[in-house]
Amino acid sequence: MFTISAFCVFFSLAVSTFAKTCTISPLGPGKDDTDHVMSAITSCGQNGNTVIQAGNYNITKKMTWNLANSQVDLFGTLSFNPDITYWLNASNTYRVIFIQSQASWFVLSGKNFTVNAHNTGGINGNGQPWWNFYTSHTRRDGDGRPVALTVFNATSATVKNFKIQSPPFWCNAVANSVDVTYDGMLCNATNANPAFFGKNILVNTDGIDTYRSDRINLLNWDVTGGDDCMAFKGNSSNIVARNVTCRGGLGIAFGSLGQYAQLNDLVENVLVEDLTVTRINSSIQPLALQGVYFKTWSGTVHGSPPTGGGGGGGLVNNVTIRSVTLDRVDKPVNLYQNNNGKTGDAPSKLRFSNLNFADWTGVATTNTIVDLACSSAAPCQNIAFTNFKIAPPAGQASSFICVNVVNEKGLSGPCNATGHS
Ligand SMILES: *[C@@H]1O[C@H](CO)[C@@H](O)[C@H](O)[C@H]1NC(C)=O
Ligand SMILES: *[C@@H]1O[C@H](CO)[C@@H](O)[C@H](O)[C@H]1NC(C)=O
Ligand SMILES: *[C@@H]1O[C@H](CO)[C@@H](O)[C@H](O)[C@H]1NC(C)=O
Ligand SMILES: *[C@@H]1O[C@H](CO)[C@@H](O)[C@H](O)[C@H]1NC(C)=O
Ligand SMILES: *[C@@H]1O[C@H](CO)[C@@H](O)[C@H](O)[C@H]1NC(C)=O
Ligand SMILES: *[C@@H]1O[C@H](CO)[C@@H](O)[C@H](O)[C@H]1NC(C)=O
Ligand SMILES: *[C@@H]1O[C@H](CO)[C@@H](O)[C@H](O)[C@H]1NC(C)=O
Ligand SMILES: *[C@@H]1O[C@H](CO)[C@@H](O)[C@H](O)[C@H]1NC(C)=O
Ligand SMILES: *[C@@H]1O[C@H](CO)[C@@H](O)[C@H](O)[C@H]1NC(C)=O
Ligand SMILES: *[C@@H]1O[C@H](CO)[C@@H](O)[C@H](O)[C@H]1NC(C)=O
Repeated sequence: MFTISAFCVFFSLAVSTFAKTCTISPLGPGKDDTDHVMSAITSCGQNGNTVIQAGNYNITKKMTWNLANSQVDLFGTLSFNPDITYWLNASNTYRVIFIQSQASWFVLSGKNFTVNAHNTGGINGNGQPWWNFYTSHTRRDGDGRPVALTVFNATSATVKNFKIQSPPFWCNAVANSVDVTYDGMLCNATNANPAFFGKNILVNTDGIDTYRSDRINLLNWDVTGGDDCMAFKGNSSNIVARNVTCRGGLGIAFGSLGQYAQLNDLVENVLVEDLTVTRINSSIQPLALQGVYFKTWSGTVHGSPPTGGGGGGGLVNNVTIRSVTLDRVDKPVNLYQNNNGKTGDAPSKLRFSNLNFADWTGVATTNTIVDLACSSAAPCQNIAFTNFKIAPPAGQASSFICVNVVNEKGLSGPCNATGHS
């Protein structure tokens, strides 16, 4: 009796909120679920509720969910069929992400929607065959490896309690969007092929890349991978990342920036707090390179995007990274402005200012705790460290490197160009 009345209360609430509800279950082993999922979204994705029940859904074609005033309850897992040749054919993915012409196989767009995967559902990218494949093929930006989940042209959207297992490429991207909250996101790029133990075959499995987006909240993230945990790219503003755990890889990235000579990249008002960056079993993932790093292309153009570029200007301003715990990362804070550069290049015009690092604890595997190699054409300004306590390896003295930095304060020793290679 209790169960039934509780169900009725839930049901009447659901009816009062949404004019219509569509509920689907998996078609079963060997079947293709793509059209089945899309017909539910087409019927209930606007002013409705779509319930995708538990189980595996075999997705074989690209999908865009256009959602408005709507909720999707994704209890199940969208399992993307690992037909590499098919997905690498450019007509079989979307190219909605401008930067580096990256490909997407699944796009969420629209306004005022929630996709809640209830900590049970999400995406399986079936990445292992992709990672194996790319140990013997060259990776290039824009080569068509698909982003697992792309939020594009979305306003007032929430993605909640979502798991992405084995993304072939970036786990998430948010582009051309405003007011998007991700609350609860697991990204897990873990190689299980013993042939590659001890190697990083998980290049480009970024947790998320943000681009041309404003007011983005990244709450309660857990990212395992071999590249950027989160990467804030051009025109990301008012970003909050809170309670983020990065397991292996390169750490939190600002960049790469300045790839497009004709575009300024602006990255402003970014708060990252309650961040843990930790080294994991080196058979599984050998890298834990940085806590946080900042990178721009040099001031000289070499080739053109998606793979080449450089020469772009812009500004990274008002960034706070606080309450950070590091476990055995190589270089806790790193900044360089010669990504893909060559000796003799013009210095980058892109400037970093008002960067704040507060309440950091933990240990590094090298004694280079801070390495800021800023551009002579745009020196870094106002770099503040507060309660910044990262220990070098036992028996070593901390080294802090500052090149072209104006007004650094708060480090426990001098920061100058001594020791810079
Ligand atoms: C998914 O559907 C494709 C196309 O019908 C099929 O080849 C493949 O075996 C299916 N995968 C699964 C796991 O059922
Ligand atoms: C947003 O969508 C919800 C349904 O999820 C609806 O109840 C609400 O009225 C919508 N808000 C606006 C401003 O349209
Ligand atoms: C790419 O996919 C399109 C559409 O499915 C198809 O017409 C074309 O032949 C494919 N190209 C290759 C090289 O397979
Ligand atoms: C973005 O979404 C709006 C509606 O929300 C739509 O009118 C517009 O065409 C979309 N733009 C693109 C490039 O998809
Ligand atoms: C991550 O992926 C590995 C390899 O597939 C798997 O063994 C592990 O359970 C996954 N971890 C989580 C938290 O899902
Ligand atoms: C932090 O995020 C993890 C998921 O990555 C979650 O399990 C945990 O409860 C969150 N902690 C807080 C204090 O919200
Ligand atoms: C960022 O925004 C500025 C001005 O708002 C614009 O000039 C610039 O081209 C944008 N950059 C990108 C990468 O879109
Ligand atoms: C700097 O960024 C923080 C978010 O970290 C924001 O609250 C604050 O308003 C920004 N300051 C200015 C001057 O825009
Ligand atoms: C690290 O992972 C490898 C491969 O799965 C496993 O054999 C080894 O026992 C793990 N080491 C530790 C310390 O957990
Ligand atoms: C530069 O830093 C080193 C230690 O890293 C210190 O010994 C030296 O005195 C510093 N030089 C200047 C000019 O501050």
